[in-house]
Amino acid sequence: MTHQLSDLSAEGLRALVAEQLERSRARTVQLTDAVDTDDLVRQHSKLMSPLVWDYAHIGNQEELWLVRDVGGREPVRQDIDELYDAFMHPRADRPTLPLLGPAETRAYVGEVRDKVLDVLDHVKFDHGRELVDNAFAFGMIVQHEQQHDETMLATHQLRAGVPVLDAPPPPPGRRLAAAEVLVPGGTFEMGTSIEPWALDNERPAHAVRVAPYFIDTAPVTNGDYLKFVLGGGYEDARWWSEAGWAQVQKASLVGPRFWDLVDGQWTRTRFGHSELLPLDEPVMHVCFYEAEAYAKWAGKRLPTEEEWEFAARFDPATGRTRRFPWGDESPGPQHANLGQRHLGPAPVGAYPAGASPLGVEQLIGDVWEWTSSDFRPYPGFRAFPYDEYSLVFFGTDYKVLRGGSFGTDEVVARGTFRNWDYPIRRQIFAGFRCARDAQPAELAAAEHSELV
Ligand SMILES: [Fe+2]
Repeated sequence: MTHQLSDLSAEGLRALVAEQLERSRARTVQLTDAVDTDDLVRQHSKLMSPLVWDYAHIGNQEELWLVRDVGGREPVRQDIDELYDAFMHPRADRPTLPLLGPAETRAYVGEVRDKVLDVLDHVKFDHGRELVDNAFAFGMIVQHEQQHDETMLATHQLRAGVPVLDAPPPPPGRRLAAAEVLVPGGTFEMGTSIEPWALDNERPAHAVRVAPYFIDTAPVTNGDYLKFVLGGGYEDARWWSEAGWAQVQKASLVGPRFWDLVDGQWTRTRFGHSELLPLDEPVMHVCFYEAEAYAKWAGKRLPTEEEWEFAARFDPATGRTRRFPWGDESPGPQHANLGQRHLGPAPVGAYPAGASPLGVEQLIGDVWEWTSSDFRPYPGFRAFPYDEYSLVFFGTDYKVLRGGSFGTDEVVARGTFRNWDYPIRRQIFAGFRCARDAQPAELAAAEHSELV
């Protein structure tokens, strides 16, 4: 995706939207065709919707925004709006609703898509309507489908039974030159006012000052995290916040989700495959509290959201904020592990071409990274196009995650993209990296080494 959509002709924009719609639908079909009818309607975890709910909800949102609102067309199935309104029914209750069955769902989303392609053929992008400028509503719906695809991928991870998904392994890792990177700090432009498909919570661009700090070169690995587990980290309250320690007791946490101790050896199960714990892979399926406790045990802390974005986007040579760590070009397979291209995070060091100017790696893709920040509006925030996208979630209930995972599509994984979730959540594809304050002596030493 380019941030110069406005340079495209109307026909160019139409073609790009059509391609993105098709790409997201191909992924949805892959994730839902992979299982049988029974698996589509079953609830695999109380935390998740039945896959068939996500599928019809994708179609319903597409109908609401693109058929009815942008297109001004007659409703396809107004009678089902309420069933697929995420705010009316919590996930745990969705299996009890009179949902459309798999065949009906496929027919419904297909009918909606046919109408959307017709709307796309006729829509005028330059009518001065903010929702349609640069095809924003289409971009929002493409991202919505891709985000639900990632959610459905998480449902696949929770599903019991034989493996049904397949993908080539990620590229090999390599030894990193240094475990952490000194970020000199300074003032940078955070967020965006120019990415045409950026969502309301990423806006507007604003200046933020960040003090010098160290940040891990790569996400914390299974091998690192195992030392915390083996060192009694889950039995020692001093590493945990009060809320974190309460969660350890309540949920009987002893290690990351999907880790098991089998005959004295740690294994990890993913999409139905169990294997010995791969030590050089980023740790995943830890909640915010576990990330926070590990960081404290390691003598560090989690980065703030501002520190994460500074490390990911700031170019000290030019003082400019980049779109991505590697520059302004959209992610390619050499830059980052995105879009379910592989079925798990790549080992540390696998993406040297994706490094930031300061040498921080794997910021985009692989695992979502917990930050220490609450989900808050940026100064000058304006809810668009509806309050329920971000506004209702702001506050202290949610922690921000950044960077996207192996299951996040590139149309979503912008350098400015903000995800948020409850600090107890572990089913998402989340890991973390650590940061720490830079001490005056370390700063002086760094300055000295630059002079010599
Ligand atoms: Fe949704």
